[in-house]
Amino acid sequence: MKRRTGLILVAFLIFSCHPSGKSNSSAGINPYQYSIQKKTIAENGAVVSAHPLASKTGLEILKMGGNAIDAAIATQLALAVVYPQAGNLGGGGFMVARISDGEEIAIDYREMAPGRASRDMYIDWAGMAHTDKSQDGHLASGVPGTVAGIFAAAKYGKLPFEKLVQPAIDLAEKGFVIRQHEARALNGLQDELKKFNTIAPVFVKNSPWKEGDTLVQTDLANTLKRIRDQGPAGFYEGETARLIIEEMKRGNGIITYDDLKNYKAKLRTPHTFNYKGCKIIGMPMPSSGGVLVHQMMKMIGDRNIASMGFESEQAVQLMTEIERRAFADRAEYMGDADYYKVPVDMITNEVYLQERMKNYDPSKATPSSVIKPGVLLRAESKETTHLSVIDKDGNAVAITTTLNNSYGSKTVVGGAGFFLNDEMDDFSIKPGVPNMYGAIGGSANAIAPGKRMLSSMTPTIVLKDNKPFLIVGTPGGTTIPTSVFQTLVDIIEFNMTAEDAVYKPKFHHQWLPDTLEVEKGFPTAVREALQKKGYAFKERNSIGRTEVIKVLAGGKFEAVADNRGDDDAEGW
Ligand code: DON
Repeated sequence: MKRRTGLILVAFLIFSCHPSGKSNSSAGINPYQYSIQKKTIAENGAVVSAHPLASKTGLEILKMGGNAIDAAIATQLALAVVYPQAGNLGGGGFMVARISDGEEIAIDYREMAPGRASRDMYIDWAGMAHTDKSQDGHLASGVPGTVAGIFAAAKYGKLPFEKLVQPAIDLAEKGFVIRQHEARALNGLQDELKKFNTIAPVFVKNSPWKEGDTLVQTDLANTLKRIRDQGPAGFYEGETARLIIEEMKRGNGIITYDDLKNYKAKLRTPHTFNYKGCKIIGMPMPSSGGVLVHQMMKMIGDRNIASMGFESEQAVQLMTEIERRAFADRAEYMGDADYYKVPVDMITNEVYLQERMKNYDPSKATPSSVIKPGVLLRAESKETTHLSVIDKDGNAVAITTTLNNSYGSKTVVGGAGFFLNDEMDDFSIKPGVPNMYGAIGGSANAIAPGKRMLSSMTPTIVLKDNKPFLIVGTPGGTTIPTSVFQTLVDIIEFNMTAEDAVYKPKFHHQWLPDTLEVEKGFPTAVREALQKKGYAFKERNSIGRTEVIKVLAGGKFEAVADNRGDDDAEGW
């Protein structure tokens, strides 16, 4: 960071943080009566996630002697039950972790295109691309990766898997009381649930769901028990696999037994870079997130953004133009690096990035039509969910996981009780045809059997003095990398508190469409000034749900849960 490193930053931390949260020392979880806590300051460990019952589950695991990886796994499994729009068994995700011995890991459990998938599978004879098929129903699903990812991560945990999965089994079997958000979301989903399922899932109800109703998921509990008893084979083989294949047959899906059996989570080398004294650890391809954040932070580089001030006209314009340029590169160059040679070194090269900013003109907007992907120097209600965990030994975990759209493909595997993803839409189904987040792409992200679709998910860990300093991530499709970028800039450059960095209005630009999206509450004066310079605006109710854990000077953990949802921070 431009902040002249160590000591000064530590001093800032001491003065800029106002610990006002309380520690949660209550033991046990009551799924029929629970409250939300937005912030906590803790000494022994902290968990932030999209649902209080999931965060509390993670906390219990920490208290039981589990480490951050154990807690993250248990939290993620609990989310699969209490947060069905995004927490999942039928989706995928990424985990970035920094183990207390210094090892940095990235686990890729992104969904994979089925073996029978093909580049033009959503294009009809007349050349029309059918996003309805890539976004809903059986054909929209990639081969799920979550269960494989959980077991790949479990190697870094301490507790036996049975202990990690039991809270999720209990929540599914005995039920939990739903909150207003969930009731509303489920009511809005009824028609689609009927359309995309021949076996009515438990989420279908004849009278409207209301806050306080108890949701019991017996099929899901049984699936979780098979996973508990048989490991990954409890999902990818045997009864669960059979139920998935039967579901595919009912809806003309193409996932086969072989696709399931062959699915592997991949341990990857994280994408890391240094920024003004911090080391930033992010996800490599098939997530664009780590590289995009790298590009954006480097483009800010020496422009002294700290002097411009948070959400000043100058800072917003600079960050917007940077986001625009990074996303132009995403569309051209990024995809699953196992299938397409992504020029990562080149597009994160200092000289290349400076060249990208050469036509930046602070007096006016640079239209996206004149921004092309960089010349290589040679001679995205939608739902995903993020959780952050840290423990007393300094193990730090950032997980972002998704079904893609809210409730994924809207198809529940009959008899198995979980939603399948609609992640195929994250591929570029036809060059130039936007996916549900408006992102476009070409051959780098074209569909191929076994290939993983390009993601924006950006689980990120920042080290300071070689120790965890920030754990950050959010849902939000293409707004994910820009929200993580803003959070890092807000904390590292503008020296903001974690709460402000999470709660203050966000903005987003992704090259195409050429629109600056701002959250409600974004300063009107800045908006008007930028409109005069040629920026087109669109207002959104909310951008992302950022979960942050910040390690304070002195070593305590400040965990902040986003206030844009029921997100909850726990610690002890
Ligand atoms: O991997 C991706 O980039 C998308 N499938 C993420 C979807 C998402 O964040 C939806 N949440 N609001």
